[in-house]
Amino acid sequence: MINVAERDNLLGWYRRNRARTQALFDMLVEDRAYYHQPIALRHPIVFYEGHLPAFSFNTLVKGALGGASIDPAMELLFARGIDPDTADAAPGDAERNRQRWPGRAIVRQFAEEADHQVVAALAGADLDRPGDPMLEQAQAVFTILEHEALHQETLLYIWHRLPFEAKRRPAGYQPLVNGDQPRQEWVDVPPGHATLGVDRASVPFGWDNEFPSFTADAAAFSIQRHDVTNAAFLEFVDAGGYRDARWWSEDDWQWITAHGICQPLFWEGEGRHRQWRGMFDLLSLPPSWPVYVSHAEASAYARWLGRRLPTEAQFQRAAYGGADGRERTFPWGEEPPRAAHGVFDFQTWDPEPAGSHPAGRSAWGIDDLVGNGWKWTSTPFHPFPGFTAMASYPQYSAEFFDNQHLVMKGASPATARELLRPSMRNWFRPRYPYVYATFRCVSDEC
Ligand code: AVJ
Ligand code: FE
Repeated sequence: MINVAERDNLLGWYRRNRARTQALFDMLVEDRAYYHQPIALRHPIVFYEGHLPAFSFNTLVKGALGGASIDPAMELLFARGIDPDTADAAPGDAERNRQRWPGRAIVRQFAEEADHQVVAALAGADLDRPGDPMLEQAQAVFTILEHEALHQETLLYIWHRLPFEAKRRPAGYQPLVNGDQPRQEWVDVPPGHATLGVDRASVPFGWDNEFPSFTADAAAFSIQRHDVTNAAFLEFVDAGGYRDARWWSEDDWQWITAHGICQPLFWEGEGRHRQWRGMFDLLSLPPSWPVYVSHAEASAYARWLGRRLPTEAQFQRAAYGGADGRERTFPWGEEPPRAAHGVFDFQTWDPEPAGSHPAGRSAWGIDDLVGNGWKWTSTPFHPFPGFTAMASYPQYSAEFFDNQHLVMKGASPATARELLRPSMRNWFRPRYPYVYATFRCVSDEC
């Protein structure tokens, strides 16, 4: 049974989610964005306005509570749309998308009705039913809440690729740029254990790929204290890193040569005129910001440096371990996340200088492990031993255990604070360059 305070919390979170989604759509200049498809591998923007309430309605009201349909065709149209591996459309072919997708008024009408029924369920239905696979520990409720929060990050990295004229810049927003890059250092982490995953009983909710927990042994390693910055990555680019096959896997080399890729997607121009494409403006390349790159580019840099990307277990040990052998809930300790701890929870639309959140350092003195960009690992996205697909969204992870995805850890500026638990895992294909993901290197000899 769920008590009144818990119900209020869930309803409050749902409403905050909806308000933020609304605000993100309100940022767009409708005619220049709504039927556009800035990333060919994702649906056009119209899809997402329908998808969020459709998913919540399908999962909670229809799936878990057995409610009736509103409009089966709309429920199906907006049910799913993630990570297709082929692009069947030219990006931004807005005219064609306008013909293929419903008009905005129709999308909104459906969305409003779905939303209305979800709110009614959250306010009145029996949400927590022991023994019912969909509602055990209110699973379906957390599924829809975290799904919407995750998608807000998807929205932002899609918005990021839109032309500036398609977005309204929030009043007074100025990206935080400073000239200095922090001094990179190597931090030694002694041998020990790292917990991967989490026990079902010890968290209100986790996605299926986070269960069950197990302990991994970590040998000694050293890890870079800061994310690799634009300035550091520029050395690799200037050294001809994108022209030397030695640093790239065969598939990654194929990818950069076939597409003429010669620097990160977030960079534009060359030499002294090199710029960073921010959310609302082009900035002279901020040397102190973490570089945002694909896994392919992160791996190439690490190989060039004679190092590697951390494994998922090494990330866990660096972020949550400590000299006393105990693990923390956050790199900085037990305090609930706040702005001083790192760059997450939509505080800003762009990264901030590496090392500018000392309050968020880990026990070993490592900066920014949670926030300012997801951290690539070298670990393929596989199920933990004992994995079972979750009842409320069985395809959520299972469809991606294909050896084609790699684990990212931590958080980005567009990751909601509710998602910052140690067991949270994110994953993408190695040559998907759109996400807010950075990295740092490790070395096994210390
Ligand atoms: C977990 C971020 C990889 O966006 O592809 C959203 C999240 N799954 N709807 C994605 C997701 C279904 C997923 N990631
Ligand atoms: Fe989704």
